Amino acid sequence: MTTSSKPAVRAVVLAAGQGKRMKSSRAKVLHEVLGKPILGWILDAVDALDVEKVHVVVGHQAEQVQDYLATTPTSRPCMSHLQSPQLGTGHALQQVVPDLGNFKGTLLVTVGDTPLLSAKTLGELVARHHEEKAVVSLLTAKVDDPKKYGRILRDKDGNVIAIIEDKDCTEEQRKITEVNPAIYCLEWPAVAKGLESLRNDNKQQEYYLTDLVGWAKENNLRIGSSVVKDWREVIGINNRLDLTEAIKLMRDRVVANLALEYGVTVVDPESTWISPDVEIGEDSTVLPGCYLTGKVKFGRECIIGPHTVTQGMVSVGDKTVVAQSLVVNTDIGSNCKIGPFAHLREHAAVADNCRIGNFVEIKKSNIAKKTNVSHLSYVGDADIGSGVNVGAGTITANYDHLTGKKSRTVIKDGASTGSNSVLVAPITVAEEAVVAAGTVATKDVPAGALAVARARQENKEGWTQRKKRTTLPTTKH
Ligand code: UD1
Ligand code: CA
Repeated sequence: MTTSSKPAVRAVVLAAGQGKRMKSSRAKVLHEVLGKPILGWILDAVDALDVEKVHVVVGHQAEQVQDYLATTPTSRPCMSHLQSPQLGTGHALQQVVPDLGNFKGTLLVTVGDTPLLSAKTLGELVARHHEEKAVVSLLTAKVDDPKKYGRILRDKDGNVIAIIEDKDCTEEQRKITEVNPAIYCLEWPAVAKGLESLRNDNKQQEYYLTDLVGWAKENNLRIGSSVVKDWREVIGINNRLDLTEAIKLMRDRVVANLALEYGVTVVDPESTWISPDVEIGEDSTVLPGCYLTGKVKFGRECIIGPHTVTQGMVSVGDKTVVAQSLVVNTDIGSNCKIGPFAHLREHAAVADNCRIGNFVEIKKSNIAKKTNVSHLSYVGDADIGSGVNVGAGTITANYDHLTGKKSRTVIKDGASTGSNSVLVAPITVAEEAVVAAGTVATKDVPAGALAVARARQENKEGWTQRKKRTTLPTTKH
């Protein structure tokens, strides 16, 4: 089949609902699962498919959701549609119709609260929908506890004939354990009439998208269905306990994948949280208590943790140790030792064979290879060369609080700073220069020079004895 003969597919994500049961001022779809909003995971899944456009229906906290969409790049064009007021899932899809124009093809409709849904499952549903030439297809899930999900009604031949919402079920129907995860393929414009004809004469007085199935049955249109292999993939988040469960499931899925497919040892899976967006190379070990989120890539034979946290864009080379540290938007080379208790952030770049040690903060700085910043330092807005030793307690004074201006510190190859020195930026410490311990350096240090800026030491001989004589009370006998 050539690409041009493939039916066009557009995705629709329904994300306008209030999510009352979350008890939150934040839109439900923006609650995070391992560092990324629920909506983000769904967008990733549909983005991985061959869809020409993604429509997102927003309503409750629309501005927040639109802001998120605006700042989240997707490889497909993404359009948002305002649903106000929110009168149900059918009404939500109706809001997209005016912008479908002459679109002819398949609408892949998903709810916005299923973060574990995979691109694979969605892709299989679409493929099956096309194979069966169905007008409406749905995913179903067989579960032990149907909770409040809509129930799937089948006729005696096993064909799906309707979806009944939990609130509208008879006692008998409520016992059905095949449920509706609310993920559908709809042929457009074949379902347009059905969508228009939805009524809200039900318990919740909402326009139910689920009624499209009954409408298709009444009109003898082909209804396709597939049972999802693992129902846990389609759990919908309705409250914070569901959210916790989804986070745990995602954690387990990621750990299993790293262990079995990527040769990574995760010592204590229960206490290790790793986002699916994190890549870790073979023979690396993740120690307990790590929380690794963001777009992160570790090389081979790394030792991560215990208790290391990543956020944003992070890359790490091979054989690097990152112990008990927070790493945000930072690149780290190979054979480095980071931590314990280091904080690297805001586009820090640390080259190979460096040591960034205990209680060191590195911000917006470049550090060339074989440089050590081993203890108790703040390095901000700095460019540090290779083979530099930044002594314990060295501080780059980069910030002028009156002007709010930040200035850069440059330390060139082979230079060193003594313990407790302060480099008042802008300043350059040239090649192989030495800044003496305790120095407050306010001007450039030439290559090979020693900068000393502290009072010269004076030793007062016999001082202690004199002091004792004059200040201690004389003992009476
Ligand atoms: C819906 C289904 C139910 C299914 C369940 C799966 C209907 C009528 N019911 O019920 O069969 O088992 O999902 O989780 O479709 N939304 C809007 N606009 C609205 C209402 C909802 O965009 O006016 C969005 C929500 O943001 C959410 C999704 O639709 O992402 C589902 O809404 P929710 O209220 O959670 O529906 P359920 O009652 O769970
Ligand atoms: Ca739901």
